[in-house]
Amino acid sequence: MSERILLLGSGGRECAIAWKISQSPELEKLFIAPGNGGTDSYGENIAISPLDFQAIEKFVSEQDIDMIVVGNEDPLVAGIYDYFASRSNAPLIVGPSKMGAALEGSKDFAKQFMARHGIPTAAYRSFTAETVAEGEKFLETLRPPYVLKADGLAAGKGVLIIDSLEEAKSSLREMLGGMFGASSATVVIEQFLKGIECSVFVLTDGNGGYRILPVAKDYKRIGEGDTGLNTGGMGAVSPVAFADAEWMQKVEERIVRPTVEGLKAEGIVYRGFIFLGLIDVDGEPMVIEYNVRMGDPETEVVMLRIGSDLVPLLRAAASGDLGELPLEIDARYATTVMVVSGGYPGSYPKGKVITGAAEAPRGSVWFHAGTSKNAAGELVTSGGRVIACSAYGDTLTEALEASYAGANAIDFDGKYFRRDIGSDLKAIEEGL
Ligand code: AMP
Ligand code: GLY
Repeated sequence: MSERILLLGSGGRECAIAWKISQSPELEKLFIAPGNGGTDSYGENIAISPLDFQAIEKFVSEQDIDMIVVGNEDPLVAGIYDYFASRSNAPLIVGPSKMGAALEGSKDFAKQFMARHGIPTAAYRSFTAETVAEGEKFLETLRPPYVLKADGLAAGKGVLIIDSLEEAKSSLREMLGGMFGASSATVVIEQFLKGIECSVFVLTDGNGGYRILPVAKDYKRIGEGDTGLNTGGMGAVSPVAFADAEWMQKVEERIVRPTVEGLKAEGIVYRGFIFLGLIDVDGEPMVIEYNVRMGDPETEVVMLRIGSDLVPLLRAAASGDLGELPLEIDARYATTVMVVSGGYPGSYPKGKVITGAAEAPRGSVWFHAGTSKNAAGELVTSGGRVIACSAYGDTLTEALEASYAGANAIDFDGKYFRRDIGSDLKAIEEGL
């Protein structure tokens, strides 16, 4: 096979997927739309928005694209799968249908799906402006902290965790009153779960076939010791000490299989990645959320640990039959440390010239996230998260040392990174 592939997205996640795809002997040509200042090392960047389906369709037909790999959730929630499903000569698409994408696009839909299939998750109820009084009463029955979630996509900001009952009630009213626009017209209130989180990724063919990819943990807060504002993710590690074989067996039996089989049984077309945001509650895995794409920056460690050629796996999933294709996993550790613009996740400057990012040493890969090239051809910052310094190691410590060597070597005005990525897991591994 010689595949012509179009990858949609522009973050560190897409850079990592592009890196992995580019190693495939089955690849003829990779395009990334729109890509970033690093993806052009692995393919050709194309200035098309992932949401401009007509432009994508035109490009696909002109370039004879065999397969579209959708990196970010927006085109999936907007229905890119369904758009192409009705076309003749459509390319294969790695990603769910619009209905499947509602697992991420609507928290209420996801909670109902889990309830129908007995998948362990926090108890919840959903409320709208008409039922705000009931929502306030429901809050009174819960113990703090209170978890309030905008039903729809809110760029990762739609979850509030609040200690005081009065504040939770007023936030509920504000959310229903349009705090997150239409996304919070419905609000899910759920039981607070206490535990450590991790991310499990599944590639499914929509027909009951699936492969579980390496498990990862990400670090969402801007500040060390998990303090400060939430970000897209400041770093990630894989594997995750507490997600051992026994725990992962529970995940597979109680969560992965019922999810994959539930989608099939309900006739929801889903050929792509499922991201399970899980929490370990006293040894038992529960679902915090579904996403319908890979995680960022988890992908920047997961791709390092996939030993097999990814292209045949993607093609098989998108064709509806993973068959017996093996998924080999690299036994080494992989870590990534995200170098970000000062000010992120608030406002930050762009266009800062980046130095020291030319070549990662052996055993490290630097995935660009928010970079571009300026008119002079220099590499400059163009986003909050700038470069993910990923590395392998025989131990977690070794991998982290290499990631931090990268984070120190790369430089630009206002650079910031967290210095404690993976330190909680190191403590678990060392039995501290
Ligand atoms: P989500 O967007 O659903 O992933 O929520 C964002 C973050 O809020 C999660 O990664 C958790 O850290 C936290 N969170 C969400 N739901 C709960 C819950 N029921 N209990 C405790 N923490 C939660
Ligand atoms: N790292 C979490 C996410 O991609 O949503």
